[in-house]
Formats: sequence, C-alpha cells, structure tokens
Amino acid sequence: MTAQDPAVAGPALDARNLRFGYLGKPVVDGVSLAIGKREIVCLLGGSGSGKSTLLRGLAGLAVPEDGTVSFLGQPLLAPHPRAALVFQQPSLLPWHDVRANVGFGLDFARQPAIDRVARERRIANAIEAVGLASHARAYPAQLSGGQAQRVALARALAREPELLFADEPFSALDAITRAEMQALLVDLVHRWHTAVLLVTHDIDEAILVADRILLLAGRPGRIAREWRVDIPRPREDHGDEIVRLRLEIVAALRDATNLAG
Ligand SMILES: Nc1ncnc2c1ncn2[C@@H]1O[C@H](COP(=O)(O)OP(=O)(O)O)[C@@H](O)[C@H]1O
Ligand SMILES: [Mg+2]
Repeated sequence: MTAQDPAVAGPALDARNLRFGYLGKPVVDGVSLAIGKREIVCLLGGSGSGKSTLLRGLAGLAVPEDGTVSFLGQPLLAPHPRAALVFQQPSLLPWHDVRANVGFGLDFARQPAIDRVARERRIANAIEAVGLASHARAYPAQLSGGQAQRVALARALAREPELLFADEPFSALDAITRAEMQALLVDLVHRWHTAVLLVTHDIDEAILVADRILLLAGRPGRIAREWRVDIPRPREDHGDEIVRLRLEIVAALRDATNLAG
C-alpha cells in the first residue's frame, strides 16, 4: 500500500564496503549488501557479532568509517523518512494511548507533512493491520508484550516505509507469541509492499521469515555466507527443507567461528 515511485529503479538499499567500529576498533569491516524492494533479508549472527552496529549504520544512525550506503538511489547521510525502525523493546510512551503512540512516528521534522485526515487514516490503517483496532484507546500498561510490539510495528508501518529495519524485534516474546509475530510480519510486509532487514540470532526465525539470509561472522564481522530461501510459505509445512537448511547454517556458523577463533 505504500506509494511506489516508479522513477526509482534498483534496490531499496545498497551498501558498499562498510566499516563501523568503536574507538578505532572495527566491529564490522568490508560489508557489502543490497536489499531489493519488497525483499525480506535476515541478518543472522551470534551475540556480539556486530548485527546492531551494522543495522544502525545501514539505517543512517551512524557514520561509516569507510564505505557508502545508498537508499532509494541516493546517498544516505541521516535516517530516511521512508525507512522505519523496530527494536526488541517497543519503547512506547506510557502517557499516550495506542493511537497517539502510532502517530508519534509521523511527527518528526524530516517526515513529509501530511494533512490531519491523511494522518488519522494512516494511523487507523496501521492499527487495523496489526490487529489492534479494538485496543486503539488502550494505554501501554494495559497491553501484553506481544500487543505492545504490535503497536511498535504499527508505528513503523504508519510511516509507509520502503524499508523496515527490525533489530531482534521478537526476542523478548514467548515462543507462541513470537511465532504469531513472525507470521504477522511476513503478512504485513507482503501486503504493504515493504522491504525488511530483520536482525536476529535465531536461525529458525531467519528460515521462517527470510527471502534471503546473510550470515554475519568473524572479527571484525563480515558477510560470511548467504542463502536464498525458496521454501514455499507457509514454511511450517516444509519441515524437511527447513531441517536441511538449518543444518547447513549451523555448519557454516561453526566454520565461520573456527576461522575467526
Ligand atoms: N556503543 C558502543 N561502544 C563500544 N562498543 C560497543 C558499543 N556498542 C557495541 N559495542 C561492541 O561492538 C560489538 C558488537 O556489538 P553489537 O553490534 O551490539 O552486536 P550484536 O547486535 O550482534 O549482538 C560488541 O563487542 C560490543 O561490545
Ligand atoms: Mg544486537
């Protein structure tokens, strides 16, 4: 449902030869990747492998020490209004109800001005899309963890993003809620025509959700392997293929870790 600009061909995001680090010590180096329009890419890696560092850099929240990021064909120098972020913690404002929390994502200076009616429509559509229409007047304290994360997703969707950056968005949820949220995410981004960069340490999550998996490993981190995931959806029905890919990824993780050690 996002307004696609036909003038912008090519990938949503194109990053070349990136290096990010802290205090002169590189955390990731030589990272190049592209994310196609409407593509779901999972960045998979162990804890501390540099996933969040890379995601923040790709989203324009950090300046690369080397390399370039381009978003919709333009150099990215700051967070882009057509990108949105979701983190592990939903970060809702407790004194605002669901509607106001969703609208909050639209009120930043760099966001294109929209009139009040369009704004209200966007907010209502996003809340409806995540299945919270009956909770639009609820406050964060009245929501479960899964519902709060749905609000965070709605807040991101209301921006009608071309690309959604999600950093371990479901890691704090119980297994059943996490599975629901994974299915919801895939359904939403297919309906809203949004590309996704999902950062996760969970191999099963990557296999269930991704069109493509990038394995981040090594010190400093680099893209060690890549898999295109062609397993038909719903993927739960294709257990053999899931198990086969899972074993391949585990072996690659072990190889990458041994090389780094
Ligand atoms: N603000 C920071 N200052 C210094 N070091 C950091 C900072 N953030 C992360 N690091 C370090 O960078 C490495 C990668 O961290 P991070 O990107 O958070 O990994 P991941 O998200 O894969 O768990 C870790 O060794 C971490 O300690
Ligand atoms: Mg992280």
